[in-house]
Amino acid sequence: MLNMATYIRDVQIEQGGQGCVWRGRDVEGTEVALKYIRTSEGSEPTDEQMRRFEREISCQSTLRHPGIMPILAADFSDADPYFVMPLAESSLSELIGAHPDGIPEDQAVELFRKILDAVVYAHSEQVLHRDIKPANVLILDGEPRLSDFGLGRRWDSESTKLTKTNFGMGTFAYSAPEQLADGHSADARADIYALGRLFYEMLTGKVAFLGVDMDLIPGRYRYFLTTAMQVSSDKRHASAIDMSRQFQAITRDEPKGPESTGSVRELAELVNAGDSTKVAELAQLLMLHSGDPIVNLQEVVFIPAPVLEQLATLEPDAFRAAILAFDRFAAGRHPWSFTDTIARFLRDAFVAGDDIEVRRVIIVRLLRLGSSHNRFFVRERLLEVLRLVASDPTYTPVLIDVFANNQDVIPFSRAELLLLKLPASVSALIAGNAVPAAGEGAGPRFK
Ligand SMILES: Nc1ncnc2c1ncn2[C@@H]1O[C@H](COP(=O)(O)OP(=O)(O)O)[C@@H](O)[C@H]1O
Ligand SMILES: [Mg+2]
Repeated sequence: MLNMATYIRDVQIEQGGQGCVWRGRDVEGTEVALKYIRTSEGSEPTDEQMRRFEREISCQSTLRHPGIMPILAADFSDADPYFVMPLAESSLSELIGAHPDGIPEDQAVELFRKILDAVVYAHSEQVLHRDIKPANVLILDGEPRLSDFGLGRRWDSESTKLTKTNFGMGTFAYSAPEQLADGHSADARADIYALGRLFYEMLTGKVAFLGVDMDLIPGRYRYFLTTAMQVSSDKRHASAIDMSRQFQAITRDEPKGPESTGSVRELAELVNAGDSTKVAELAQLLMLHSGDPIVNLQEVVFIPAPVLEQLATLEPDAFRAAILAFDRFAAGRHPWSFTDTIARFLRDAFVAGDDIEVRRVIIVRLLRLGSSHNRFFVRERLLEVLRLVASDPTYTPVLIDVFANNQDVIPFSRAELLLLKLPASVSALIAGNAVPAAGEGAGPRFK
């Protein structure tokens, strides 16, 4: 560490929640920032404040990364302990303030990628930040630097209880629910949550804490953000690396074959706007990406109903392949709140064409999704599609097959299904007449 006498303090630039930051100079006149413990007039820092300050310095000074604000020197010998950083020109909160409708997408993506890299690195060094928010991302030489490790801690250390008093200003708007409930239980996924809120705010200019409106978010980030901001930490990205991989996948340039000029999302938008010449290209791209979970859950699922109709009519093979491929991802793990989006898409796909195999798969998926996620919205979509085919004799064998082979999930919708005008053989399967149904006279009870 440098000799502390070489720093001169000029003016106070910020009084944060915990710290008090001054602009100063080193002996050569280079501007620096000096961070002190914030104390009330004339009083000494408390022991708890000292411990926190030491922890902050120890976390931040061991991390060396282009996305993390370095610590140049620290002095504990002074009655007023402080540490020294390069002087940042701005912060992410100022940048967001200058763009009330969101930072331009390309810039937001570039900045966020660097912030995410810094968090991946910090986690790989076993350091959790626990206070990620725009005011704690400083801009130095045009690059974002994660700073303020005042709530940071090492994974292996004794956990530090987060009390209201050691929360910084505005921190709780970015904090994961489990972190607010009990700081002890918060792990890396609390940082992931905060990153989600941060990126939402970068893209929209709006604080996610005040309400999330996914309509403001370009389609390709919706699934990513929904996942990061899940209330239950189990449903978020499992790690910062996971999050970073998904971010790379959704932001990489789409592979552009000689005939392909856009992404699924872009082509669907063009078709939706009336350009039918793009349907064949969209069909090709769907085939190309049929195995890609990201494309399926972020782009395919948002294809509008009129585009699905055109696909089903003009490119029936690709349409069928796309829906069958999508079904695999719909069956897998996805955020609970995303189930409705999937159900809406499956309903639209059902209506779009009359491919009997596609329709069979959709009925089964709606049945299983509705039951396993206990979603009434999904059941409504199921009933909606069944009404379309209930009285069509071509579908009788299909429905018999579906209900005979999915008896386990019928109870969730049994009462409603029995109200449909289905063929008697199908209704008998739904009623479970093959099995003695003692005590079910009033129909099943739903939670
Ligand atoms: N190195 C720096 N250069 C310029 N400004 C800084 C620097 N460090 C902090 N600040 C300013 O001071 C504010 C508070 O600093 P921070 O480290 O976040 O302390 P606190 O723990 O009080 O939140 C920051 O939001 C930023 O505006
Ligand atoms: Mg701060």
